[in-house]
Amino acid sequence: MESRVFQMAIPLFIASLMAAILSPSIAVSLSKASFEDNFDIMFSESNFKTSKDGEIWYLSLDKVTGCGFQTKHKYRFGWFSMKLKLVGGDSAGVVTAYYMCTDVDASPTRDELDFEFLGNRTGEPYLIQTNVYKNGTGGREMRHVLWFDPTEEYHTYSVLWNDHQIVFFVDRVPIRVYKNNGKPNNFFPNEKPMYLFSSIWNADDWATRGGLEKTDWKKAPFVSSYKDFSVDGCQWKDLTLLVFLTTTKNWWDQKPSWHLTDSQKKDYAWVKRNLVIYDYCEDAERYDAPMEECSLNPFD
Ligand SMILES: *[C@@H]1O[C@H](CO)[C@@H](O)[C@H](O)[C@H]1NC(C)=O
Ligand SMILES: *[C@@H]1O[C@H](CO)[C@@H](O)[C@H](O)[C@H]1NC(C)=O
Repeated sequence: MESRVFQMAIPLFIASLMAAILSPSIAVSLSKASFEDNFDIMFSESNFKTSKDGEIWYLSLDKVTGCGFQTKHKYRFGWFSMKLKLVGGDSAGVVTAYYMCTDVDASPTRDELDFEFLGNRTGEPYLIQTNVYKNGTGGREMRHVLWFDPTEEYHTYSVLWNDHQIVFFVDRVPIRVYKNNGKPNNFFPNEKPMYLFSSIWNADDWATRGGLEKTDWKKAPFVSSYKDFSVDGCQWKDLTLLVFLTTTKNWWDQKPSWHLTDSQKKDYAWVKRNLVIYDYCEDAERYDAPMEECSLNPFD
């Protein structure tokens, strides 16, 4: 039936209408969206709360369990953004994660883009860890310190994802740029649509000073707060045929979004000079030779 779309005789406007209907992904712009409209709780409903007006969401970790939520829909490419205020005070051992992933469970073939916030003892700096997975393989960690205390105010954490680059932003400052060299079978996740997730859990076996600092359960519950979720992206519809009809008119897919802007380049260079404390590309103890993508120029 679908093949009729492609008959030359069909007037252009009908063809494009059909394309819009049959296209596997549709462009959506969500903001100020309510929790129920966009998300499901993944685990521990009891550790999830919202403010009275529903605008702020709280995830808590206690000795029994953490908590997590995920989007109802999958997306492939777009701009994904959320404001977070992280667990304050003594948060050693506690990890808040905000990430995109193909699957609900950590499947062995998942693609994933991670922001992880690693808590610390009172007054010691949080670290932000980012990672990229393709088909179940990760190992692309970077760690940064921040230029503010992320537990005092809400700050915006965003991901730009298109076929050319993945950029992790903090308050619109690009802290990490991950490029696609366009070669087949390279380590760039661009095929599988992903859900967006967030969760809080105990990771005191590794998170703070490599696991030396343990979670102090006397300080529980540990609470991270969220607001202003927004997406400008392609919401995936499970009509996997006709992929080639996907529109490329969205700003996040357009040429200006394939590269950093000049002012973003300046910001990025500043981050690189001042805030990076770990980069897998420079870890010769861990990897005999840097991964292929390490040679790509973030400014290209
Ligand atoms: C993805 O990983 C699975 C299992 O680890 C493997 O069998 C499969 O060949 C991989 N696929 C690609 C495209 O590399
Ligand atoms: C926690 O604080 C210590 C001491 O300042 C620092 O070395 C470490 O990088 C901080 N962050 C983590 C996640 O360990």
